Amino acid sequence: MAALKNGHIPQVLATEYASYRDSVLDVLHKELKSAADSQSRPLVLYDPMAGTAPLLSLAERRGYTAYFNDLNSLHRYVNAAKTLASYRSFKDIGSKELLSLVCRMAAGIDRLERTVTEEWIESSVLKKLALAWRKSEDQGQSVGTLTKAILLLAIRDFSSFVKTKNPTWLKSGGLRPKRTAKQALKSAIDRLDLFYQEVYGEDTDLKGGDIILTANDASRFTPKRKVDVVVTSPPFCNRVDWDRLYAPEHYFLSAVSVWHTRTEFLGTTAVHRYSDFDSELEFVTERSDYLARFLEEVRKRQIRNERKSNYWVKYFTRYFAGLFRVFDMAASILRKNNAGIYFVVQDNGHRGLLIDIGEALAESLSTQGFQVRHLEPSWERRHMGLQNISRHHRLVSPRQWERIWHAVQ
Ligand SMILES: C[S@@+](CC[C@H](N)C(=O)[O-])C[C@H]1O[C@@H](n2cnc3c(N)ncnc32)[C@H](O)[C@@H]1O
Repeated sequence: MAALKNGHIPQVLATEYASYRDSVLDVLHKELKSAADSQSRPLVLYDPMAGTAPLLSLAERRGYTAYFNDLNSLHRYVNAAKTLASYRSFKDIGSKELLSLVCRMAAGIDRLERTVTEEWIESSVLKKLALAWRKSEDQGQSVGTLTKAILLLAIRDFSSFVKTKNPTWLKSGGLRPKRTAKQALKSAIDRLDLFYQEVYGEDTDLKGGDIILTANDASRFTPKRKVDVVVTSPPFCNRVDWDRLYAPEHYFLSAVSVWHTRTEFLGTTAVHRYSDFDSELEFVTERSDYLARFLEEVRKRQIRNERKSNYWVKYFTRYFAGLFRVFDMAASILRKNNAGIYFVVQDNGHRGLLIDIGEALAESLSTQGFQVRHLEPSWERRHMGLQNISRHHRLVSPRQWERIWHAVQ
């Protein structure tokens, strides 16, 4: 059975630049196959920071049990529409019928005047969208799952925001796009349809997995069951602010009481209420000599450049302490004879310094009794204009690598 028809998973959300590339998926698909082959029962897999859950359709095709968690609730709703069950109800209803259903739910938006706002979504539009969300809740579960995902996938087309030079840093306000509600909703349905065609299509050999989706802080949460393998990819630590990247969607989700701005995101830019700095600095530097050296270098450069707060030392300390805790939690639910932890890491850069996230994690996991190595191949990688976020060192772009690491006990 071919893994995917055209070899890649189509993008469903407006921004998925952090998702796995095909070459990474190829390696992971093979590794998971040999892990599953060594067992007599379906594989149980956990991704604590799953984002767009790139392994979801694989789990469905091969019949794995798979837990996908991401603190960002947006992913939970959109991923729910990626399951085999959702695909089947999409096929039963048909895209035309689904479009007229969501258009009826969101009726009246086109009649609202387009006015300049400072918010992410004009208040009159937000009210209509919130009403559409409530109507989704009145549908049966399978249809409601689809209509909620479609609304979320269309939110940007109903929002008012401007793009900045940094593609992850939107600014709220302005005029909403001229697209009609039907165009916006249709585009969302088309993206889902394309996804289904690529990952499920006419495949008759689909085993059907057991997919469990959650939206928790992974450093404080684990699935109830023990798992065979953990596969995940940590967020960047170059101040990509997930709450800002998905601001229009989060603005909408908080209006329907789902989302609360939280600082539990790894890589959050907020350090001003960070009271655990001293203890966490000790925690990370005890676990990783590499980090001890790195943080010392960051501290020195900061003094040289700005002579003020030690923002960056705090920022990186917070990031790595959170990351180590997520991995500790995930490791704690690995059952006996497990296939270990796979993590896909893109190094980041800071003012000409390479931030070797993989190395730090490898050292941390070693102190917990894991043997860690990275698999071949690795890829040289440049972020979308993000390799340097410093005003002072714009031109520095260190060589960055994307690697798949494997930790076994
Ligand atoms: C690099 S992205 C994952 C990308 C994913 N592999 C994909 O293909 O879409 C990292 C994810 O970690 C999530 N995240 C950040 N902090 C988290 C936390 N404390 N608990 C759970 N998820 C978190 C972010 O929302 C983001 O989706």
